[in-house]
Amino acid sequence: MNQAKLEDFVGKILGEIAGAVNVPLIRVGDRLGIYTAMHAAGPMTAQQICEKVGIAPRYGREWLSNQAASGYLAYDAEHDTFELPPEQAAVFADEDSPVYMMGAFDLVAAMMENQAFVEPAFRTGGGVGWGDMSQCQFCAAGRFFRPSYQHNLVENWLPAVEGIVDRLRAGARVADVGCGHGFSTVFMAKEFPQSQFFGYDFHPSSIEQARRHAQQHGVENITFEVATAADFPDRQYDFVTFFDCLHDMGDPAGAARHVRETLSPDGLWMVVEPMAADRLQDNIALPFSRIYYAASTLICVPTSLAQAGRAALGAQAGFERLSGMIRDGGFSRVRKVVETPFNMVIDARA
Ligand SMILES: C[S@@+](CC[C@H](N)C(=O)[O-])C[C@H]1O[C@@H](n2cnc3c(N)ncnc32)[C@H](O)[C@@H]1O
Repeated sequence: MNQAKLEDFVGKILGEIAGAVNVPLIRVGDRLGIYTAMHAAGPMTAQQICEKVGIAPRYGREWLSNQAASGYLAYDAEHDTFELPPEQAAVFADEDSPVYMMGAFDLVAAMMENQAFVEPAFRTGGGVGWGDMSQCQFCAAGRFFRPSYQHNLVENWLPAVEGIVDRLRAGARVADVGCGHGFSTVFMAKEFPQSQFFGYDFHPSSIEQARRHAQQHGVENITFEVATAADFPDRQYDFVTFFDCLHDMGDPAGAARHVRETLSPDGLWMVVEPMAADRLQDNIALPFSRIYYAASTLICVPTSLAQAGRAALGAQAGFERLSGMIRDGGFSRVRKVVETPFNMVIDARA
């Protein structure tokens, strides 16, 4: 036993425990509106904050103390005031910031609930259906991915798929498959009013939520329908998109075949997947693979194992495996056109 290594590791684990215990506190701050009340409000005393938010002072003071001790709030001991610095506000309070991460904390909470469903499946090898997982997971997934779509989809990802922006501007028929609550579909439909969008997902309550979401945004060029990736209607689409869902499917190669059949002859398929290398040893070096493997174990693998095909690619499948599946579906030109720390974007053509 190397004492220095032990101390390092214990220190690391204590840091992890501190992060883990803060998840419910961060979510309390979100749900009660404490972060938003403090956003750009300058230094305030605990009393002022509690009055503004309408919370009991004793709870408020303890919460604020935890947040100051965690480095989430700045504390001025001389004046006994707390402030949400702009960098922390970008993460906790500003929904339109590219680094807004509240959805990630909701996902962590969902993953903790999923333990009860997934742990027994470790023994049986069975799956856990998407709809049978923690009920807050569906909103959490949408909330988690939204900032990335808001800041990347129209600005970076679509332009990287050669020729598609012009076609969308001119008016194209688009299928967004595995659309969940439809954030990606709504962003695209708002940007390209000449195009017609069809959002498909096999989870009925997600489709209901996606419809409400489109209504709230007053977007009329979208239709949301319940359908699987293997049976969504053939409308000879010009463009098909899959956002963070191909690896969740039981039969990704079957989905690829169906996309090929339902695309017009010069149609394109854009697949957005979590960033991953092809080998574990390379993934270990990536900044977020640890988080992705956790989500994969508690969400992606069980949901795929609950479906026919049971491919269970996992959220760190990597381009080699993904492109193999896509090629099996009848696509001969498959390229990775974007790589960010979080995502890769694949352009697939017949
Ligand atoms: C991680 S979520 C991503 C949702 C959405 N695309 C987004 O980015 O917010 C995966 C989605 O894939 C859907 N899904 C999984 N397997 C599917 C299948 N075989 N057919 C259709 N949808 C599927 C789930 O219902 C879920 O909405």
